[in-house]
Amino acid sequence: MCGIVAYIGNQQAYPIIIEGLRRLEYRGYDSAGIALLNGDLHTYKKKGKVQDLENFIDNKNISGTAGIGHTRWATHGKPDDINAHPHVSGSGDLALVHNGIIENYSQLKEALSELGHKFESETDTEILVHLIEEYQKQDNLPLEKAVQKALKKAIGAYAIVVFDRKDPNKIVGARKSSPLVLGIGADEFFLASDATPIIKFTNKVIYLNDEEIVTVNRNGSYEVVNIDNQVQSPKVQEIDLKIEELEKGGYDHFMLKEIHQQPKTILESMRGRINADQGWVTVGGMQDHISRIKNADRIIFAACGTSWHAAMIGEYLFEDLARIPVEVEYASELRYRNPIIRESDVIIALSQSGETADTLAALELAKKKGALLYGIVNNVGSSIARLTDSGSYIHAGPEIGVASTKAFTSQLVVLTLMALNLGKERGTISESTYRQLLFAMEQIPSKVEQILQQDEKIKYIAGEIKNSQNALYLGRGYNFPIALEGALKLKEISYIHAEGYPAAEMKHGPIALIDMYMPVVVIATNQSAYEKIVSNIQEVKARKGIVIAIVLEGDVEIKKIADFTIEIPETLEPLSPLLSVIPLQLLSYHIAVMRGCNVDQPRNLAKSVTVE
Ligand code: AGP
Repeated sequence: MCGIVAYIGNQQAYPIIIEGLRRLEYRGYDSAGIALLNGDLHTYKKKGKVQDLENFIDNKNISGTAGIGHTRWATHGKPDDINAHPHVSGSGDLALVHNGIIENYSQLKEALSELGHKFESETDTEILVHLIEEYQKQDNLPLEKAVQKALKKAIGAYAIVVFDRKDPNKIVGARKSSPLVLGIGADEFFLASDATPIIKFTNKVIYLNDEEIVTVNRNGSYEVVNIDNQVQSPKVQEIDLKIEELEKGGYDHFMLKEIHQQPKTILESMRGRINADQGWVTVGGMQDHISRIKNADRIIFAACGTSWHAAMIGEYLFEDLARIPVEVEYASELRYRNPIIRESDVIIALSQSGETADTLAALELAKKKGALLYGIVNNVGSSIARLTDSGSYIHAGPEIGVASTKAFTSQLVVLTLMALNLGKERGTISESTYRQLLFAMEQIPSKVEQILQQDEKIKYIAGEIKNSQNALYLGRGYNFPIALEGALKLKEISYIHAEGYPAAEMKHGPIALIDMYMPVVVIATNQSAYEKIVSNIQEVKARKGIVIAIVLEGDVEIKKIADFTIEIPETLEPLSPLLSVIPLQLLSYHIAVMRGCNVDQPRNLAKSVTVE
């Protein structure tokens, strides 16, 4: 939610910041802005995409070797030029960008108004820049100290970057519950919401912790203090990220690239963790806490969105293979209930970004109750990765399309390996099932490749149903969460209303929706419940629904009754979601493209949901 990028050094700031904003646009894209210091302070803001900002700036003064930029996902105040960041203080000296929400902004606004402050926007952010200026004046404080004092008053979440025309050789950044990364170059510094705008210039970064404030100076020095002014000694990390990973690489959209990367990303998630010939699976992070995990009374998965769907499959896997009781929780619900969490529980958070506010809050809650915290995360160095006691990276590489695809399949890989590892440790899985699953697992990348080759056929089916207003997705067992995920993919990028249901539940309500205009996507790959799925399809056909069935190669029976079928290769049932989700990703992608939707940046959404 909102992307921040800032620069101070010897280079011109504008091109660095604009390029950085393009990289961060996945985080929010309803307006963008930039402020540059060149003796004077120039601020440019525009509703719309970064491109709209660039068009607006054309021919204006863009010189300056210090600058801050922002791409917004609106929380307080509609998306327009005025509410766009940066926000400027009353005197016009300070400019500030913010990602997060200042919850007590109306009280602060009232107090500042009484002191004579006038506000232009409807945002919470503008209050903060006025408050900082107020403290600068009241107490004659340098910028970093005024920031510290203001943040002590602010309740909520923030990553901020601020600079001062009167003190042009420094930039101050701070974070609490929203990410901020410091990039350290040769006599230059970068601050950004993630490392993607930084990597072109330096691989040395510091991930700021909550309530830390960093001051970077043009002379090449920097200092990190906490909100109580204690000097910190943060660890400088070297990140391993290649610029090509951030490009579309010849594909029309990041989502399409990411769908097609899956044979490789699935392999990456397995690398070094499985060897079928030698008969072992090992998941590093889990081994570090194996006794506590294998003896856990209960495992609680907490996640949101697509990661929550992966967690649901995790429940099937852990119960089936490792016989451990599992609960799957929406992080946003768990955090506000009064849940029973014990020290003997293990909480596993799943998150692509590692920054989802609700998931982080659920972990904080479980931490207080003494549970072991485990993270299954893609984004290296992210807040969840740092908060948890242990965890496993999924190694899917940067996922830029807002709709999650490759991260989902990599999450499934890690969950499967964890379940296998645990099943072996607990003695709940037979040697032969274990071995068969290991061999089947190693074949998954090539089977995904085979499915991807059916792209043209899937595109054709997409063309047949692209004008639908609703769609139903049905699946059973391991493939019920895939029905949910297929429906989510369709609604988020094509804006077609879609529902996922356990196939047998259809009779208990949704069947009333079925008519000749309703496409019903049925995941019919379960060997164990094949006849039951066939009956469900018959029930849909009897009401004239349009059936698109995902079937196993060589299927005869369903082909006779479904309107369209997409064949996928056979695998063992616990692994089937890794294959059955692929055609659903492609189907929603093609439908969205045909409907003229912005696939990578769907309306109202942002990749990383760092606010509640
Ligand atoms: C998926 O396509 C989404 N856009 C969204 O549901 C996402 O999965 C959710 O916001 C969770 O994000 P996370 O995995 O980064 O925590």
